[in-house]
Amino acid sequence: MRTIYYGPVINPQSVTDYLALPQCLICVSPQGDIEWVHEDVESSKLQDVLAEHNYAPSDFTLCQLDDGDFLMPGLIDTHAHACQVPNLGVGGEMELLQWLDNYTFPTEARFKDVGYATRAYTDVVRRMVNSGTTTCCYYGSLHLEATKVLATLIHTAGQRAFVGKCNMNWNCPPNYIEPSVKESVDTTLKLFKHIEELPRTTCGEPLVHPILTPRFAISCTEELLTRLSQIAKENPKLAIQTHISENKAEVELTKSLFKTNSYAEAYDKFGLLRDNTVLAHGVYLTEDEMVLIAKRGSGVSHCPTSNFYLSSGMARVGMLLDHGVKVGLGTDVAGGYSPSILTEIQHASIASKMLAIQATPDTKCNCSRGHHRHQTDASSYSSVESDSQSRGHSHKSNECDCDKKPSGRFTNQKLSIATLLYLATLGGAHVCCLEDRVGSFEEGKAFDALLVTVQDAAGNPAVWGYNPQRDLTQGVTAQSADKNLIEWLERFLFCGDDRNIKKVIVQGKTIGGRDHQ
Ligand code: GUN
Ligand code: FE
Repeated sequence: MRTIYYGPVINPQSVTDYLALPQCLICVSPQGDIEWVHEDVESSKLQDVLAEHNYAPSDFTLCQLDDGDFLMPGLIDTHAHACQVPNLGVGGEMELLQWLDNYTFPTEARFKDVGYATRAYTDVVRRMVNSGTTTCCYYGSLHLEATKVLATLIHTAGQRAFVGKCNMNWNCPPNYIEPSVKESVDTTLKLFKHIEELPRTTCGEPLVHPILTPRFAISCTEELLTRLSQIAKENPKLAIQTHISENKAEVELTKSLFKTNSYAEAYDKFGLLRDNTVLAHGVYLTEDEMVLIAKRGSGVSHCPTSNFYLSSGMARVGMLLDHGVKVGLGTDVAGGYSPSILTEIQHASIASKMLAIQATPDTKCNCSRGHHRHQTDASSYSSVESDSQSRGHSHKSNECDCDKKPSGRFTNQKLSIATLLYLATLGGAHVCCLEDRVGSFEEGKAFDALLVTVQDAAGNPAVWGYNPQRDLTQGVTAQSADKNLIEWLERFLFCGDDRNIKKVIVQGKTIGGRDHQ
């Protein structure tokens, strides 16, 4: 049975542009893929458009969105530690290396107990899904059995994910360290086999993928990294995730342990930087490292909540984008204290504003108007542009017409709503090399979506939401509906939470959200 959705839709297009479509029609196939999208269908024409497709009434269900609801692509969390969820909101007075020793390793060590792991991970997956995360890159603990349980639970829940077991045999406490390179490699391969043998879903493609997970350079000997790089070489499609340049003391320790000039080099010399590598944090990456990472095609997971909470610093996301590095958002649970990518959007915005405020005068634009280069500035360009080509309404920003050079568009600039939305959806999809499947609504992609509500009735006191009894004094025109949709999106991104997520949909199937029992 097809499902045809009709109502307001937000559709990311690029790093600077999204479409707000107040009356959009999306057809989802029985397998959960998008069959077609009609971007602008007046309600009076709805039956005619449906009739053109010649479906028998039993072929489809029409789902008309309630007032105050809209659809957007599901959120993509490119970096989360499933085994640290029990530690959310604890330990933020410390910095990374002390925090790992005092809070994180003891929390993760508990997952040796498979019974505990089963109970805890059941709760973890439910929380991550209900936070609106449709695709997640998960780190498990170093334990094989617990991580197998995690992968199975994610598979059963129907979330799209990458699941890895930490490789760590160096500089770790005696009760939380892998005993040998052989053990680390054997258990890694066993986990991959377990994930690959999970039953196929009705759509035919696996939703849960294995991912090679050397925790970070400091916790892996050269011998272990060499073996992991061999596995990577033998499996070019295998994704890789690790941490990079998160904290100053960590960067210095890495360079001294691996005798390299940079952190990125320590991974590159083992062939671990490639197009399907996800690098978390990147706070202290130099421009040379950004150039190298862009050349290798690796992506960076920007984890601003964690970067603030552990006093790590502020990643230069704008500069990464200007260097052509793929960027997505990561909760870094529990370095970050929230399971929600919405919190990352909020902190990514604030981090970019802080960097813009601190920027030195030489980053200012040289043009006669004297504004900051490419700053979101109402006097230099319109942040809301209507596209007269009847493609709905295109919302562009961060584009300065005084300098068309590809570099410098984002460096030291605050991130626009369009860019924040992109990082949380399509940007994350690129980091996961899943941009052909998810991140936006396009024919042929999977329908991974959130049904969001900004109705007052949702009960979120921060969202001054849709409430016609209180607010509507005159009829809603097409233009005002469009404006409402833009504002609804912004309110959801900055004030929303799980109360505003009615449905979490992966591959066409509702797997979570308030309306899901
Ligand atoms: N670096 C190595 N391990 C970790 C971890 O668990 N969290 C964070 N934020 N950084 C790390
Ligand atoms: Fe992390």
